Amino acid sequence: MAAAAAAAISELDPLKDAAAVVEEIVRLERKIFPKHESLSKSFHDELRKKNSGVMYLKTNKGKEGEEEIVGYVMYSWISSLCASITKLAVKEGHRRQGHGEALLKAAIQRCRRRKVQRICLHVDPTRIDALCLYRKLGFQIDELIRQYYSPERNAYRMYLEFDE
Ligand SMILES: CC(C)(COP(=O)(O)OP(=O)(O)OC[C@H]1O[C@@H](n2cnc3c(N)ncnc32)[C@H](O)[C@@H]1OP(=O)(O)O)[C@@H](O)C(=O)NCCC(=O)NCCS
Repeated sequence: MAAAAAAAISELDPLKDAAAVVEEIVRLERKIFPKHESLSKSFHDELRKKNSGVMYLKTNKGKEGEEEIVGYVMYSWISSLCASITKLAVKEGHRRQGHGEALLKAAIQRCRRRKVQRICLHVDPTRIDALCLYRKLGFQIDELIRQYYSPERNAYRMYLEFDE
């Protein structure tokens, strides 16, 4: 795995960040996920929720000073004890460089600051790349939920439990 050295992860602040940042993330969401799984239409509503957040990862585009957003992670607090990772994506062409892992680790750290005991998520079992990443960071499969995304698409519910 190549190091994600030139990458920087930021917390999205819908009040301070330029609308262009949000639009760039929405464009990625639309491109990466099928319609029924995409939050692109409800993204602005998601951002307004007090119990959720988004982190995004920027890298240099090649030309001096030019940056682009190549990945993002969304999370929310379901209760005082439990958080959820609701989205994680890295732009094609920028995968397998450690960005997804860096984003997921950052979101886990963020959730842990709230002292939650458990982080859960849902993932389509056919998304092998995501499944491997979640397992690498210690998530375990809880159960298979049939027809979670659509009549043809199931989900694993996974969780990461903290001892203390
Ligand atoms: C899942 C995803 C975010 C991973 O991002 P990434 O930047 O490529 O991942 P990383 O380079 O950080 O890889 C970290 C680990 O993930 C796993 N992984 C990533 N891509 C993989 C692949 N194609 N096959 C198997 N394992 C893979 C590996 O365990 C890897 O660790 P390693 O490099 O030590 O083998 C990216 O593939 C993606 O956006 N997929 C489409 C959207 C998606 O499925 N999102 C999750 C569901 S919401």
